[in-house]
Amino acid sequence: MLTARPDTAEAFLAVRDLKIHFDTDDGLVRSVDGISFDLQRGRTLGIVGESGSGKSVTSLGIMGLHRTAKARISGEVWLDGEELIGADPDRVRRLRGMKMAMIFQDPLSAMHPYYTVGAQIVEACRVHQDVSKQVARKRAIEMLDRVGIPEPHQRVADYPHQFSGGMRQRAMIAMALVNNPELLIADEPTTALDVTVQAQILDLIRDLQKEFGSAVIMITHDLGVVAELADDLLVMYAGRCVERGTAEKVFTEPQHPYTWGLLGSMPRMDRERTERLNPVKGAPPSLINVPSGCAFHPRCPYAGLNGGSSETIVPELRETAAGHWSACHLGEQDRDRIWTEEIAPKL
Ligand SMILES: Nc1ncnc2c1ncn2[C@@H]1O[C@H](COP(=O)(O)OP(=O)(O)OP(=O)(O)O)[C@@H](O)[C@H]1O
Ligand code: SF4
Ligand SMILES: [Mg+2]
Repeated sequence: MLTARPDTAEAFLAVRDLKIHFDTDDGLVRSVDGISFDLQRGRTLGIVGESGSGKSVTSLGIMGLHRTAKARISGEVWLDGEELIGADPDRVRRLRGMKMAMIFQDPLSAMHPYYTVGAQIVEACRVHQDVSKQVARKRAIEMLDRVGIPEPHQRVADYPHQFSGGMRQRAMIAMALVNNPELLIADEPTTALDVTVQAQILDLIRDLQKEFGSAVIMITHDLGVVAELADDLLVMYAGRCVERGTAEKVFTEPQHPYTWGLLGSMPRMDRERTERLNPVKGAPPSLINVPSGCAFHPRCPYAGLNGGSSETIVPELRETAAGHWSACHLGEQDRDRIWTEEIAPKL
């Protein structure tokens, strides 16, 4: 039974050693394998990593949305002093939508096909706020307008299938934001949206944060968005955090070879920024048979420099500079040399 708050958790959100594994016919999938971080109110944490690294599973876990028999979940998620992994599911359901909300990567998963878009936003609003139907409807129209739905007075009465993919995504964003959540998790919030609408949505999230001091987790393949919005950055690989720190530190003095690869693939300011990341040679590993030692070792050009430990010992996340953590066996001298001579000149 978890009762005591962790020491470092004056943080609004404190995640401790979160593990989410799934039983499947092929074996145990270690989708999230020991993630820890803190997030303060008013700050934005960017989570980046290749497809399949566990970003969405982490966010769904924080929101308490993996309550199936096949999911094995351990660790702690503290939201404003309340632990959620061991909490009553009804309590977590109440917090969802009221205190925390999520913009899902797949908008269809968030909208019910049998109710109008307006009815769903009104319902989301009224479950958590003591307002009349009329007030909630006015608020729904206002939110649809703010996310850029044209003619919101009419469109509020449409069903989700009458909306285009991009409009459904915007409606889902309206639903997530209608109660001014204190924690917002935005999972690829702007994919499938054109550049103008993308900018509008990011502004809306920024406004929410300014107005209500919300904490935001922004998951995206677009490092340009992260560079613009994130205060802190967490780099995921194979269900683990390999590097974490302020966005400035991670962008300007990255320490982990995987992060070097990611940044190397970052589209430049003078090019389109929306391409998906293909950061390093080779494919991400299976999360059923995660490579031994450092999971990145089969793809890492520097695995041979560590006397065999890259292949055999899982590197711990260590604080390599104040507020900057990296999980890599490279010695400081090797790391600094590679960074200065090989990586930095090419970025
Ligand atoms: N319910 C489930 N049962 C079994 N495996 C799952 C389940 N949900 C996710 N996974 C697996 O967990 C891993 C991590 O998935 P996740 O969706 O978190 O990746 P992601 O980082 O969000 O990727 P993307 O960038 O493509 O959205 C994947 O290998 C996925 O197949
Ligand atoms: S621990 Fe070894 S394999 Fe892993 S990133 Fe560092 S150098 Fe590469
Ligand atoms: Mg995802």
